[in-house]
Amino acid sequence: MARALRVAAVGDLHCTRASEGTLQPIFAKVAESADVLVLCGDLTDYGTAEEARVLAKELSATKVPTLAVLGNHDFESGGAPEVTQILADAAGVTMLDGTATEVLGVGFAGVKGFAGGFGERALQAWGEEPIKAFVRAALEEALKLESALARLRTPGRVALLHYAPIRETAGGESAEIFPFLGSSRLEEPLNRYRPSVVFHGHAHRGQPEGATAAGVPVYNVALPLLRRHYPEQPPFRVVLVPVPDEAPAGPRPSATLTRPGVPAEPARPVSA
Ligand SMILES: [Fe+2]
Ligand SMILES: [Fe+2]
Repeated sequence: MARALRVAAVGDLHCTRASEGTLQPIFAKVAESADVLVLCGDLTDYGTAEEARVLAKELSATKVPTLAVLGNHDFESGGAPEVTQILADAAGVTMLDGTATEVLGVGFAGVKGFAGGFGERALQAWGEEPIKAFVRAALEEALKLESALARLRTPGRVALLHYAPIRETAGGESAEIFPFLGSSRLEEPLNRYRPSVVFHGHAHRGQPEGATAAGVPVYNVALPLLRRHYPEQPPFRVVLVPVPDEAPAGPRPSATLTRPGVPAEPARPVSA
């Protein structure tokens, strides 16, 4: 019988100076219902050191290991390295950027990701140099995700991103901003390495659940979206990722979804 690690996920905290005291209750609930917390970018609103310090203080409400990727907002003030440093030093957060780590028998691979759109209509590297540079940025993030996933050897594996890797979980956003919500290029490594579960944020008005073409469950855990879809529950999702007692070789365990106060249920990928 496999054990399971309870992985809580939320993104788009958009922490500001005014957030002091408002995030602590959420993190306290996380500590009650999960073994690990992952934060899917837009940790701060303007990417300032001051905002990062507020978030680090708020995070002291949970003692569970915490991993995070940055989002686009964390770059706004040009201080992303400092935001990363503060969260790592003051709150002990493991910051992932094309890197991977193992926590309590489960592997985690994280990358911010980038935009460019989905499917056949995704932006192509053609024409002006700024367009090529834009597409190159998306390709680089996809390569970083691929190399992070390739390093993981655990049967249970979690991928965390900020940008959406599939169109489905961005669905509902206005057509004008769709190409800026994520990139199909991020889906390719997910289909190849098939982690147990993928979390992302960024699409505040997207959909909470989807799946890659290979059936990998994808959860949009942007905090505003969770508040809207699950107003009665704390704004994070919990997925149970099996941890085999002896980590045997064989079929890869799939993730199970649960919500605080609600019995665990299998994570049903919505059709791709
Ligand atoms: Fe956001
Ligand atoms: Fe964002």
